[in-house]
Amino acid sequence: MAEWVRIAATTDCPPGKLLGRMVGKMGVALVNVDGDYYALEDRCSHQDLPLSDGEVDGSTVVCAYHGARFDACTGKNKGLPAVRPVKSFPVEVRGSEVYVDVG
Ligand code: FES
Repeated sequence: MAEWVRIAATTDCPPGKLLGRMVGKMGVALVNVDGDYYALEDRCSHQDLPLSDGEVDGSTVVCAYHGARFDACTGKNKGLPAVRPVKSFPVEVRGSEVYVDVG
């Protein structure tokens, strides 16, 4: 059963930006791709550093530390040095609030 938790207001994370937040014990990187929101575990699969410190390049999240690239929508790794995906979580926008289900 889904457990939706409010993570941010839509205005907290404008298009092309990332926002790091804790949801319970899970670090979540909220990503805004042209007005659509996605949520990834805020831990790069390369060396466990925060993805939310990185940048958004189109629909790709680029890690600030060594340049690994991940699909913002799915968490799939798209560029070295990451060789594993990161978790992605369902997102729902309700009015001006963004909710995430980290399971
Ligand atoms: S920690 Fe992200 S690329 Fe190294």
